[in-house]
Amino acid sequence: MEILGIDIGGSGIKGAPVDTDKGELSADRHRIPTPQPSTPEAVVNVVAQIVEHFEWNGLIGCTFPAIIKNGVTHSAANVDNAWIGFEAEKMLRQQTGCSLLLINDADAAGIAEMKFGAGREAEGVTIVLTLGTGIGSAIFVDGELLPNTELGHLEIKGKEAEKWTADSIRKKKDLAWNEWGERLNTYLSHLEFLFSPDLIILGGGVSKKFNKYESYLTTHAPCVPAKLRNEAGIVGAAMAAQRMAH
Ligand code: BGC
Repeated sequence: MEILGIDIGGSGIKGAPVDTDKGELSADRHRIPTPQPSTPEAVVNVVAQIVEHFEWNGLIGCTFPAIIKNGVTHSAANVDNAWIGFEAEKMLRQQTGCSLLLINDADAAGIAEMKFGAGREAEGVTIVLTLGTGIGSAIFVDGELLPNTELGHLEIKGKEAEKWTADSIRKKKDLAWNEWGERLNTYLSHLEFLFSPDLIILGGGVSKKFNKYESYLTTHAPCVPAKLRNEAGIVGAAMAAQRMAH
């Protein structure tokens, strides 16, 4: 089935039609920088532009970097505060004129990784993390998602984990790989203590550079890089929308 996947991030809003049987984009991705400030109105407008670009009038799956319950966004860690308590799914449906499902970005990336990427056939408890501007998380038990886990906001050494070990912090503070790798390891070890995962999948831009920090990770559970890279959010959003259609 072909569904338009859209991934709303802190710096870019990306979309592409997805072949949900193959887990692949069926056309080149279209990206528009996230408007600043990232108010609901401005962001919803950009989503409508992406829908127009593909002349789309079918089903859409869309991610957002926040807690999402029944189509309402309930947090705003790296976006404009006006998103808190906003009827985002309803507004996006109105502006695009399409059937649309809104899902947390890390949950979407996790869904795609579990089906087509590093989590294929994983049993037991899998934790998928997206390390980018913030840290997103998705927990799966035998392939079933526990939504909205927000493990990036867990406190580590008196600080929110994402303010200490997100990839954006590595770049901003110019941390060497060993320094950042050790921070990440402290965080992962804490997650392991709390959840006893069988597998940990690390996504986001740094998944490409896994060999630079792999040696600092000491968890008992295997830690592997995500396979779908930049496209996981788009693919997972489309997959989640497809489930809604059934
Ligand atoms: C947000 C999460 C999101 C993650 C990755 C966090 O700051 O609270 O909802 O999944 O960033 O974008």
